[in-house]
Amino acid sequence: MLDHLQPQPPDGLLALIRAFHEDPRADKLDLGVGVYRDESGNTPVFRAIKAAERRLVEEQTTKAYLGPEGDMRFVELLRPIVFGACDPGARLTGVHSPGGTGALRLAAELIVTARPGARIHLGLPSWPNHAPLFRAAGLEVVTYPYVDIVTQRLDLTSMMSALEGAKAGDAVLLNGCCHNPTGVDLDLDQWDAVAEIVARRGLLPLIDFAYQGLGRGLEADAVGFRRVLDAVDEALIAYSCDKNFGVYRDRTGAVYAKARHAESAEIVLGNLAALARVNWSMPPDHGAAAVRLILEDAELTRDWRSELDGMCARINAVRAALARADDRLAFLTRQSGMFCNLAVPKGAVERLRSEHGIYMAGSGRMNLAGLQVGDAGTLVAALADVAALPASRAVAA
Ligand code: LMR
Repeated sequence: MLDHLQPQPPDGLLALIRAFHEDPRADKLDLGVGVYRDESGNTPVFRAIKAAERRLVEEQTTKAYLGPEGDMRFVELLRPIVFGACDPGARLTGVHSPGGTGALRLAAELIVTARPGARIHLGLPSWPNHAPLFRAAGLEVVTYPYVDIVTQRLDLTSMMSALEGAKAGDAVLLNGCCHNPTGVDLDLDQWDAVAEIVARRGLLPLIDFAYQGLGRGLEADAVGFRRVLDAVDEALIAYSCDKNFGVYRDRTGAVYAKARHAESAEIVLGNLAALARVNWSMPPDHGAAAVRLILEDAELTRDWRSELDGMCARINAVRAALARADDRLAFLTRQSGMFCNLAVPKGAVERLRSEHGIYMAGSGRMNLAGLQVGDAGTLVAALADVAALPASRAVAA
């Protein structure tokens, strides 16, 4: 039977991790997978996570099972950070998930359970795992153009007409902030326009919220999606702590649902737990336990926030340095988060890798959080060498 399986290509993004490590060049640049690097090129464990982990080692009395919902105290403590004053109270429920990917998978399965044959609208380009994940969960994926990477402009007209054409009950994937892969976020007026259509057309927003704090700051990054949350009766939010607490491999996330009533929220919770049980039984605990300890302690929370603010500032300094290095990249300062996606000519990504030791996704997505301010000139020169810089200074002006 196993002979019937077809070979699968390795995941394009994750394959970059290995390719980069195997490259012996000392001056190579890793702009591939979305992990943050500090001024020394390291992906540090947050000071607050280290402190929380020390506490865990000392104080944790058991590693016995928790249950399919995972660490519910972690889920509760995260709520004020995610929802702030827009927390819908008893209408909101949630469970702990293995990272943002686990949260998306649970959200997608919840949609399919509630409405078999449901569709989800996805703006392109998108995180390469979105469409396969949704299809694997049983959703029909319908796409529309979100950003034109040649002009670096948001295609609001296409987005609006896709949403206007969606059927009541369809889901729509929205990036909460720091759009992966383009860095092009909605401004507040655009969020309001999306909120109005989503509410009027009876669509179900699924917010992918994986980079809070890495764009404009913890609170500012949440303002847009909360406009949608306020406008609708039902919404799903897939949250990841992997980046903003730096616990990538510990797989730490949560999926939240706003339901029409408190009673339906209870039923949603039971369904999320049942889906978690058949997928992974219960999520890995360590990352969530460390995050919980931070959020229970005002001093650790302050330290976490200040380290996160520093990371956010460094990413924005890299954006500014690239814009200074070449004014055709000025649009980078108006985008947000770890990523940008240039329209690179065919073969250019490969040449950047082989001739310049610069690693990025095959789509032309670059993880700017992997770059040093001092390497901005080197990157710009390499992009110019392979004709991957935008042709015009007027891009997204
Ligand atoms: C990325 O987009 O680079 C990250 O979200 C890592 C991943 O899982 O793809």
